[in-house]
Amino acid sequence: MDQLFYIKTFGCQMNKHDSGFISQILLNKGYKQTDSIDDAHIILINTCTVRQKAEEKALTLIGRLAILKRKKPYMITGVIGCVAQEKGVDLFKRFPYLDLVLGPRNIYHIDEFLYKIDKERKQISCLDLTCEFTSFPKYNGYLNGKVKSFIKIMEGCDNFCSYCIVPFVRGREISLTAKQIIDEAKYLVSQGIKEITLIGQNVNSYNAKNEALPTFPGLLKQLDSIAGLKRLRFTTSHPKDISDELIGSFGELESLCPHIHLPVQSGSDNLLKLMNRGYTRDKYLGLIEHLRRTRPDITVTSDIIVGFPGETEKDFEDSLRLIEEIEFDNLFSFKYSDRPGTKALQLPGRIGEKEKQRRLSILQERQREITLRKNKLLEGTIQEILVEGPGKRGDDQLTGRTLGNKVVNFSSKVNLKGQLVKVNIIKGFQNSLLGEL
Ligand code: 5AD
Ligand code: SF4
Repeated sequence: MDQLFYIKTFGCQMNKHDSGFISQILLNKGYKQTDSIDDAHIILINTCTVRQKAEEKALTLIGRLAILKRKKPYMITGVIGCVAQEKGVDLFKRFPYLDLVLGPRNIYHIDEFLYKIDKERKQISCLDLTCEFTSFPKYNGYLNGKVKSFIKIMEGCDNFCSYCIVPFVRGREISLTAKQIIDEAKYLVSQGIKEITLIGQNVNSYNAKNEALPTFPGLLKQLDSIAGLKRLRFTTSHPKDISDELIGSFGELESLCPHIHLPVQSGSDNLLKLMNRGYTRDKYLGLIEHLRRTRPDITVTSDIIVGFPGETEKDFEDSLRLIEEIEFDNLFSFKYSDRPGTKALQLPGRIGEKEKQRRLSILQERQREITLRKNKLLEGTIQEILVEGPGKRGDDQLTGRTLGNKVVNFSSKVNLKGQLVKVNIIKGFQNSLLGEL
């Protein structure tokens, strides 16, 4: 009988990528993937701990596995990812029916752990943050029908922003070699992939620590010359590490899409300092100005935190003024959440939940107006779309993204999946655009 595995993924693109990685390892070993948790023999929960709420969601699902395991004692259940790294073997105490606890740096040999559990029927954990990561396991057919893909070019983070748990659960920065990345990109293109997004906690520090070449802009240049690769993107960038050379890439490299996700976190210099971000409000504004001068059609998105310890009304207003001044195309905003082990835990000036929520609502309302206004500005323009497949509404609706990464839906009787097409934008909405071929 086929061994069926099921993976539930919480969190960011790194986790999504890791789950894809695990799927391909297991498919290569002869396991089959299922979308039904009830049918699975192996259940893996890939967890996120960036905020308290994300962690709670994962823990709730892990708790629910108890019933399944009672029904099928021979089933294997595993917790992987950032909560696994943070809580470690304590998870076995709280959820005794778990078989596997694996940190995000230890997924690359998951097949061996599963094999061992199956044979020896004992609990296994691996939480080694010094493990190297490897190139992608290629499973034939996995990319069939896909138009876009990620490449993880670096892992870990050395920045220790004072609110952030990531450096503790993903370990120190480590980069894949340029050869591994180029080979992977060529392979993806040979499989029909048209758009690649390079991912890492801070892609700008690619190769920075080991002082190896190429640096990040050099890597982009090498990738840009790959025939058949239509679009190149990257995320996430840290403002303190953006070089003039990187900004210049937006004006030079043909495949590099004019979109940057550049988390600002706060518009107040006091808070940026307390957050250990390594730049000022002015420096950030200067970067945006430079990016827009180099590539006027560039779209800019960002992350921001409200209610960080010590955030005064004036600090908050500085953030509001910043988003109005910059007019981000989109903004991901979060209420500050205490994370174990981080420096911010010791800071005075805790903000109450109600006040955090008030600030978040004000900020989100402002940004909604800005996003809508910017989307409406695109009405009447012609945009190049990479067609990804059928839209949510089915029928003959197709969906894709602009160079600036905005979702466009449009009608077409012909299946144009994987093609670059020009559409006229007829309407701008809050979360998408409506186009016409
Ligand atoms: N509380 C709230 N938001 C956080 N982020 C990271 N850590 C925290 C925290 N402790 C946000 C940051 C980051 C995004 C991925 O999550 O804005 O850019
Ligand atoms: Fe966290 Fe800062 Fe590293 Fe981003 S750069 S992962 S916010 S510590």
